[in-house]
Amino acid sequence: MALPTQDQVTEALRAVIDPELRRSIVDLGMVRSIEIRESGKVEVVVSLTTPGCPIRSHFQQAVAANVSRLDGVSEVGVGFDVLSDDEKGRLQQALGRPGGLPEGALAQVKNVICIASGKGGVGKSTMTANLAAALQADGRSTGVLDADVYGYSIPRMLGVDQRPEVNGERKIIPPPGPAQIRVMSIGFFLERNAAVVWRGPMLHKAIQQFLEDVAWDELDYLLLDLPPGTGDVSMTLAQLLPQARVIIVTTPQPAAQSVARRAADMAAKVDLELLGVIENMSGFTTPDGQRFTIFGEGGGQLLADDLDVPLLGKVPLAEELREHADSGSPLVLDQPDHPASQAIRATARGIVAATPQALPVMQAESPAAPAPAAPISGSELPVVQVQG
Ligand SMILES: Nc1ncnc2c1ncn2[C@@H]1O[C@H](COP(=O)(O)OP(=O)(O)OP(=O)(O)O)[C@@H](O)[C@H]1O
Ligand SMILES: [Mg+2]
Repeated sequence: MALPTQDQVTEALRAVIDPELRRSIVDLGMVRSIEIRESGKVEVVVSLTTPGCPIRSHFQQAVAANVSRLDGVSEVGVGFDVLSDDEKGRLQQALGRPGGLPEGALAQVKNVICIASGKGGVGKSTMTANLAAALQADGRSTGVLDADVYGYSIPRMLGVDQRPEVNGERKIIPPPGPAQIRVMSIGFFLERNAAVVWRGPMLHKAIQQFLEDVAWDELDYLLLDLPPGTGDVSMTLAQLLPQARVIIVTTPQPAAQSVARRAADMAAKVDLELLGVIENMSGFTTPDGQRFTIFGEGGGQLLADDLDVPLLGKVPLAEELREHADSGSPLVLDQPDHPASQAIRATARGIVAATPQALPVMQAESPAAPAPAAPISGSELPVVQVQG
């Protein structure tokens, strides 16, 4: 029987996925050598990132299983070595800028902005919904993607609750929210208040679909409402959206800054640009004009100084802001002159001033960029079904 070719072995190795990086070892440049002996024995050397790599046996089995399936292979030998520092550097660079989305996805979106925080409940979703409303009211076409897959609240805050339709190109049409904001959330695909239990790869896939398979079309701004903290979703977004910028929402107490900083550190680690800080729940003013600093004071400025980015806005505590978020109609649209609305509109103007108003120039494909992530297996998402 004829021996397999180098190319055939390489093709077979494409199916071997690094479980942490979720890409094929071929694309990651981790296949050091392939030797095909007369006897039909194939010897593959895989380069690991560290000598004590805990996933060694996974690679051993996966390489043997995939290569031994080829015609003409009598035996598979798997050896290991370690990537040099240079090679590791190249791998990291490639991962940081993977061009994870296919060309063309989000091509007409001028700015992608993630609204993040170190801890929960600081008002990310409220800010996202109202900033979107403010931008849209200012004539900037805006979309909102609810990236808080486990704790989605955008459908409620923007009063959109319908199963999206699919257009002729089989893309999901984001239903219009107040003032024609385009809205997408996992909540649209689930039974009312159902819980989402996906982890890692499924989460990654869901968010990828929201970016790739949704007809966002032309947008000046796509705002992403992130889940609290610095988990999987942030990593996924960083991988998929290297062009995204990040706004950190924090409360005014100086003690909250170390927690808020974590979100900023995360952004820095994955190389996303920080656009600025919003201080929310920044004092409460009674109807007769008395101001109480219920959650302390000055924290937003402290954080902004610390991170060397602008404080984009200070939004007061306001019952109306909460009420309108609860009823799905942003305060910014219903009462544009309310002090909280004014603060949010000023913040939106700050965002416009700090972001380009033209489409980013397409960057040439970097030779270091690996091919798109290998398919991730698992049960189908509801998002997939809706296209069928
Ligand atoms: N400035 C404000 N004044 C009054 N209520 C506010 C203000 N900002 C947010 N809220 C209310 O506080 C609650 C939490 O806000 P929100 O859900 O926006 O926070 P979050 O950071 O998105 O939370 P999570 O981390 O759970 O996603 C909501 O009920 C919201 O209406
Ligand atoms: Mg939220």
